[in-house]
Amino acid sequence: MKPLFSILLITTLCGPIASGILFAQEKDGDSASKQAPSHYSQKIASRDGTGKVYMGREMAQVVGHGAVRWLERPEREREETPAEVIKNMELKPTDVVADIGAGSGYFTFRIAPVVPDGKALAVDIQQEMLDFIENRKKELKHGNVETILGQIDDTKLPEGQVDAVLMVDAYHEFSHPREMMESIVRGLKVGGRVILLEYRGEDPTVAIKPLHKMTERQAVREMEAVGLKHLETRDFLPSQHFMIFQKPEPAANAAAAGTKTPE
Ligand SMILES: C[S@@+](CC[C@H](N)C(=O)[O-])C[C@H]1O[C@@H](n2cnc3c(N)ncnc32)[C@H](O)[C@@H]1O
Repeated sequence: MKPLFSILLITTLCGPIASGILFAQEKDGDSASKQAPSHYSQKIASRDGTGKVYMGREMAQVVGHGAVRWLERPEREREETPAEVIKNMELKPTDVVADIGAGSGYFTFRIAPVVPDGKALAVDIQQEMLDFIENRKKELKHGNVETILGQIDDTKLPEGQVDAVLMVDAYHEFSHPREMMESIVRGLKVGGRVILLEYRGEDPTVAIKPLHKMTERQAVREMEAVGLKHLETRDFLPSQHFMIFQKPEPAANAAAAGTKTPE
């Protein structure tokens, strides 16, 4: 397989992407987009968008590794109450949990102590993010943290071994959301859960650029398209939806996915 390579593009974004550093992705012989072109369409890119559209939603540009300090900013404690997020994940000590689009590992290192007999898998497509996590892992001595270099269309999770997947402020910027979610479903155990956190798209008081927010309705449509079941949405966070989905039994899974028409 040809290597995945990236071009760093330094630009300025308004609003929350204070570091203004983006990650442009390119992949030689992008097999996913060649095999499944029907999932996506193209439009003129919005200011912080890629122009690529999935189920009516334009994907946002990817936040680059230069934003590590912004991801680690102390204000997140107040803005995103991470301890409450972890509590609401209702993890068991033996759980294998994957933090997809882990970035600096802000959530990975909060998950690790809660699953001492399990694992916290940090998946990202930027090696620099994983290097940051590996260094911090040594400092904090969290032996149950593992990093995985994913591809833009594949999490590289081990099949059927994951109890819970967390995605915080990441899903909306996946360039291949359909393939990523199919890969996540493959990685999950039956009954495993996906916890999806996105800034509330239907709330005009949430001062985040539109492509970096998602409505609950849109998120549920996209998760159901890969056969996941929406269990509930807990709106206890200041600005984000906390949405819980589950991988059903295989028969129910196939039936659920079969009834959906991807756009
Ligand atoms: C805005 S950051 C959020 C990081 C972290 N979840 C947090 O809340 O601090 C989004 C991350 O998703 C990663 N990402 C984008 N597309 C991805 C993909 N297809 N697979 C894995 N990670 C991806 C980016 O590299 C970036 O590190």
